[in-house]
Amino acid sequence: MAIRREKPQSFRGSPVLVAIVVGILLGCVFALLYPRGFFSSDPANATTRRTAKSDRQAASSCESPDRVRMLKSDIVSLTESNALLKKQARELNEKLQMAEQEKDHAQKQVLLLGKQQKAGPFGTVKSLRTNLAVLPDESVNPRLSKLLKEIAVQNEVIVALANSNVKEMLEVWFTNIKRVGIPNYLVVALDDHIVDFCKSNGVPVYKRDPDEGVDSIARTGGNHAVSGLKFRVLREFLQLGYSVLLSDIDIVFLQNPFHHLYRDSDVESMTDGHDNRTAYGFNDVFDEPAMGWARYAHTMRIWVYNSGFFYMRPTLPAIELLDRVAGRLSREPNSWDQAVFNEELHFPSHPGYDGLHAARRTMDYYLFMNSKVLFKTVRKDAKLKQLKPVIVHLNYHPDKFPRMKAVVEYYVNGKQDALEPFPDGSDW
Ligand SMILES: *[C@@H]1O[C@H](CO)[C@@H](O)[C@H](O)[C@H]1NC(C)=O
Ligand SMILES: *[C@@H]1O[C@H](CO)[C@@H](O)[C@H](O)[C@H]1NC(C)=O
Repeated sequence: MAIRREKPQSFRGSPVLVAIVVGILLGCVFALLYPRGFFSSDPANATTRRTAKSDRQAASSCESPDRVRMLKSDIVSLTESNALLKKQARELNEKLQMAEQEKDHAQKQVLLLGKQQKAGPFGTVKSLRTNLAVLPDESVNPRLSKLLKEIAVQNEVIVALANSNVKEMLEVWFTNIKRVGIPNYLVVALDDHIVDFCKSNGVPVYKRDPDEGVDSIARTGGNHAVSGLKFRVLREFLQLGYSVLLSDIDIVFLQNPFHHLYRDSDVESMTDGHDNRTAYGFNDVFDEPAMGWARYAHTMRIWVYNSGFFYMRPTLPAIELLDRVAGRLSREPNSWDQAVFNEELHFPSHPGYDGLHAARRTMDYYLFMNSKVLFKTVRKDAKLKQLKPVIVHLNYHPDKFPRMKAVVEYYVNGKQDALEPFPDGSDW
């Protein structure tokens, strides 16, 4: 094999050297023509330029403290207007996203209603998950319809059921909703005392007409009984054409949740999961060594949706889900509403059973945070501690009220050690 010998480079006449010399010369020319650099005329950077200029001037006029003060206040006001601009940009961005969402949904619905079509090339096919809303039917409940016309924003409303057992938590609940500035929420009062309590606090309240059976649950019921009742109550809201964000009472609102929804599914729900796998689904391998070569069976797992905080669009699958869950809860009085909710939502059709096949979406578990995520992970992680959730749900802990207050202290009042006194889980 011939060994390739490097040809000795001759520097005289080397194209590299020529290029370097030309580069240096060009550099000198531009340095003369543009002493402040190319980008000083970039209008996008006007603010920082002006600040930099002010800084220079301030430095060169130490003898005039008034001037320095003026320039400093100049800088402060520029920083403020910068922040304002950023905020406006953020808001615009949110609006744009909402508009995009609506356009996207509209296109998909046209797809659904349009005529039969061919599938199109690889990678371009998108199936539908945004079902059509039902036609609103005011005759179902004219009184509620009238109330919702006043309260709802863009046909959306937060709904919570409450009886006197949860009065002190209810106060924390609506105090934070008011603080965030959410106008579209409604308490469904299950007894007269809660009606009065809401009215005296300026909280929108609604009490159902007496309804045999259901209302005795409402007055005396514990947590789980009331949870079952909500599936019956929500039906009318959907029938009236409203999207509902159902909220339990043991929830602290820190931002407006309506700015953080996707609205592309029948049900969009917070999760009981605590990381990407458990919240969004994973492949859990079941090992059966006796099967030898086929010892590994793959299973699909996902932590349940939390039936204490979910958003429903007024669609047929959503209403069917409510009916199925309410029906099963009345036939199986010892069942747990959250388990039933998840089974109806997730199990596929099989022999002797027609599944629901509703479109579903899991909410971001850091934005719609359960109390396990907060107390086991987030409060111990310097970076995650900086995140501001949209809501925190104290679903994993029996000492709900003190933990709710601690969440407010930490996220609203900035008390850094407010979450410290509590153990990760309960001590039984
Ligand atoms: C503006 O200029 C400053 C330095 O003068 C720089 O740090 C900043 O990144 C620039 N911003 C933009 C948007 O170009
Ligand atoms: C979890 O998922 C998000 C996107 O959904 C991703 O950005 C993040 O890196 C994931 N975290 C881990 C630990 O895998």
